[in-house]
Amino acid sequence: MHIESGNPQDTAAAGGPRIGRRMLLSAGAVLAAGAGAATATALGRGSGHQAPALPAPVPHYGARQSGLTYRQLPATRLLALDLPATADRDALRGLLAALDKVLAAASDGSLADPRLSAAPVSSLAAVGPALAARLKLDAPAELAELPAFPGDRLDPARGGGDLLLQISAEQPWTTGVLTEHLLTAARPFGAAPRWSQAGFLPNVPDGETPRNLFGFKDGTANPDPADPGLWHSDGTILVYRRIRMDTAAFAAVPTDRQELAMGRHLMSGAPLSGTAEHDDPDIYIKHPDGSYVIPVDAHVRLSSPRLDGGARMLRRGYSYDDGPDDRGLLFCAFMRDPALFTRVQNRLAENDALNPYLTHNASAVAWVLPGSRPDRPLGATL
Ligand code: HEM
Repeated sequence: MHIESGNPQDTAAAGGPRIGRRMLLSAGAVLAAGAGAATATALGRGSGHQAPALPAPVPHYGARQSGLTYRQLPATRLLALDLPATADRDALRGLLAALDKVLAAASDGSLADPRLSAAPVSSLAAVGPALAARLKLDAPAELAELPAFPGDRLDPARGGGDLLLQISAEQPWTTGVLTEHLLTAARPFGAAPRWSQAGFLPNVPDGETPRNLFGFKDGTANPDPADPGLWHSDGTILVYRRIRMDTAAFAAVPTDRQELAMGRHLMSGAPLSGTAEHDDPDIYIKHPDGSYVIPVDAHVRLSSPRLDGGARMLRRGYSYDDGPDDRGLLFCAFMRDPALFTRVQNRLAENDALNPYLTHNASAVAWVLPGSRPDRPLGATL
C-alpha cells in the first residue's frame, strides 16, 4: 500500500520533515552544481557522487492542459472511469478537483511517494458525451459519440467511459504509480475504472518525428497546436481509437509498395510528391502517364486536409504492445469537431491501402476540459 498525504504515516501530516520530490529536485540541483557533499550524504549518496542534472518539471497549471501543450513524453497511460448513475454535477466537480490535486502534485514534485522521481509528467482530463448529456453540462455542441464505421470490431469494455484521463511520463513506472494515486483519489466519489491502456513512443531526439510500428514517421503533418481551429476556448475534443496493426504482414510487403500505400517515403518521411519530410503532400500532382504520384488509395491522400476544406486534427498517437498478436496504434487526435474524424475515417474505411493490416478494436470520444489554476481546479467552471 502506498503512503498518501493525509495518511497518519505521512511524515508531513505528522508534522515531521517530508522529503517530497520537490525537495529531491532542489537537492538534485545542488548536487548537479557540485556543491552538495553534505546533502549527498543526507540522501545516502557517496560524497564523491555527481548526480546528473534533473529535468525541469512540466507546469501543471495553465489555460490548456499539459497533456496537450507539452511535448509528447514517451510513456503514456489512458484511464477511463465510470461514475455512479446517481452522481451529480457537484460530485463530478469534487472528483475533478481531487484528480487535479494529484496531477498538480505529480507535476511539481510534491506528491510524497518514494516510488516517484523528479521526472516530468503531463496530463489531461476529459468528459465523455454520455456523462455530459446525463448532467446537462455546458459542453461543446459538437461533443457526440462516433457512428459505426465499416470494418469496426469494437470491444465496448476497452472503450467509452464517463471520464478519460491521460498521463504521460518518461517511463511506464511513473504512469503506473500515478494511475494508482488517481484511482485512490477517485474511489471516495464512487468512480470505478472502466479500462486502461498503456502506450509508448520510441525515444527520439527533440524535434524528430517518432516512428510507428509499421516503421513510418507518424505525426509529421500536424497543425500548429496554437491553431484556433482546434479549440473551444481552451478545451477541445479527443478522438481515441485502438487500432491493431498486423506488423508482420506489413513488414513482408516490399518497401516501394509500403510507400505507395502510405503515400510517403519510409526512411525520410517525405511525401511521394516531394523530397523533404515537411514538404506538403501534393495529392493532385500526376505522373506523365496520368496516374497520381500519391495513389488514389494512399493513406495520406485519403486523410488529406485538402479533402476537408483545410480542416485539421492534432494527432498525438502512441504505439501499444499487449502481446505478439495485439500490437498497434493508440490513435489520439484532438479537434474542434469529431465530425472531421468521421469524414476522414469514412474515406479510410472505404479505400485505405493500409486496411488489410488494420483493425479498429476500441473507440472513445471526450471533451478535453480547459486547464486549471490553483484557485480554479479542473471542472470548476462546469
Ligand atoms: C494504425 C493506423 C494508422 C497508421 C499506421 C497511420 C499512419 C500515418 C502516417 C505514417 C502518416 C504520415 C505522416 C504524418 O503526417 O503523420 C499519417 C498521416 C495522417 N493520418 Fe494516419 N495512420 C493511421 C490511422 C489514421 C486514422 C484512423 C486517421 C483518422 C481517421 C488518420 C489520419 C491521418 C491524418 C489526418 C494524417 C495527416 C494527413 C496530412 O495532413 O497529410 N490516420 N498517418
